Amino acid sequence: MKLNDTTLLKTNALIDGEWVSSDTNDVLPVKNPATGDIIAEVAKSSANQTKMAIDASADAMEDWKNLPAKARANLLRTWFELMITNQEDLAKIMTAEQGKTLAESRGEIAYGAAFIEWFGEQAKRIDGDIIPGPSKDKRIVCIKQPVGVVAAITPWNFPNAMIARKAAPALAAGCSIVIKPASETPLSALAMGELSMRAGIPKGVINILAGNSSEIGAEMTSNPIVRKLTFTGSTEIGKLLEAQCASTMKKTSMELGGNAPFIVFEDADIDAAVAGAMISKYRNAGQTCVCSNRILLHDAIYDEFLEKFLTATRELTIGNGAEDHISIGPLINEKAVRDVDKLVQASVRSGAELICGGSPHPLGGCFYQPTILNEVSSEMPVFRNEIFGPVAPLVRFSSEAEAISLANDTEFGLAAYFYTRDVGRVWRVSEALDYGIVGINEGIISNEMAPFGGMKESGSGREGSKYGVDDYLEIKYILMGGLDR
Ligand code: SIN
Repeated sequence: MKLNDTTLLKTNALIDGEWVSSDTNDVLPVKNPATGDIIAEVAKSSANQTKMAIDASADAMEDWKNLPAKARANLLRTWFELMITNQEDLAKIMTAEQGKTLAESRGEIAYGAAFIEWFGEQAKRIDGDIIPGPSKDKRIVCIKQPVGVVAAITPWNFPNAMIARKAAPALAAGCSIVIKPASETPLSALAMGELSMRAGIPKGVINILAGNSSEIGAEMTSNPIVRKLTFTGSTEIGKLLEAQCASTMKKTSMELGGNAPFIVFEDADIDAAVAGAMISKYRNAGQTCVCSNRILLHDAIYDEFLEKFLTATRELTIGNGAEDHISIGPLINEKAVRDVDKLVQASVRSGAELICGGSPHPLGGCFYQPTILNEVSSEMPVFRNEIFGPVAPLVRFSSEAEAISLANDTEFGLAAYFYTRDVGRVWRVSEALDYGIVGINEGIISNEMAPFGGMKESGSGREGSKYGVDDYLEIKYILMGGLDR
């Protein structure tokens, strides 16, 4: 990893503006999933250090929330600019610890930075309401105030953007934040912390600690100073955190698992649908919660889609994402390879036909072959579970009603996609899908201006967009009386 600025590579926790080593002398090895090399050892923070960070965060928030919104906006803008200036180094760090290709890492830095830019701008638009009162002498005033200290637990699949998507609205609202990045990818988080300090964001407003969820997470969920927990990760862990937060009634935002249907109707532009499915399926080696998980194809176009999708899949190049011309990097670790393979083998045993791939890649380690499974049905494990790997199950349908019913046949409700040229169908199907996000004739739906979030067991709350800041605010109602005296 050759960085222009090696001082971006931080290995200690950021607490109250200081880089702090572990108080238990424990470290967390960070592994490059493409090579298996240990690239760094990061300080493993304890519950005690988490408590220190939460206390520092509460102190820092006193001044931060009282800064004029424009001053907070300017600091966020400077942080955004520093992320863009350092995009190449941040991308290299990300590829080394996460495995995604350099092109994808560069894209993620721009995506993450865009949230900081967007919410900086939104900071100035957090306005309240004046509502007519219940009698002549009264008015109702609503003001919005920061919810309090925020704790964020973020995933390894987007080591930068998922932090930006939480920290930026929190800071815009006037909150301070304590962040626990995934143990697999702490370096991207710590580099963001360094840039936030260079931007002039005051000490204690952003704190970052790596370590065990059982220690850091438990302190975050039980500490009464924390008023809000925001989490991106699995539904299983989300439910656990939600339950832990109940004892102190914290606000929560949960961005959890998905099982996205990708529907291609008989009237679709098939080349566009194949291009959309390629990007939506294979982005980040299939490791996003909005990756298409089930590709539903109308009878009339099934064979044509399969042939074109297979050709495009065979053109993918697998390898170390730091090298040029690689389109798919490794999965995050060897357990991920085993989990994906288990789903594939169990589905083949239940009758799915293997069209290509179907096993770990000959490169070994964390690489898995892009895989297409044909004639998948709704009882098969690949239909029912979030795959989180480069596996595309193809499912046949013969009517619009059947496609909608198959698409909604899951406990998840994050993202759905469909391809059609019929404007009536665009509305009918969009309204019938039980999903928080619907992409029509598009395979990529994520951007900072749109509300990202799910229904059902995919979680609660929305990130990004003008709605994204609401999760970090309390509405206070003030009744003004005696106005005609
Ligand atoms: C995720 O997989 O959690 C986020 C994906 C995105 O922001 O597009």
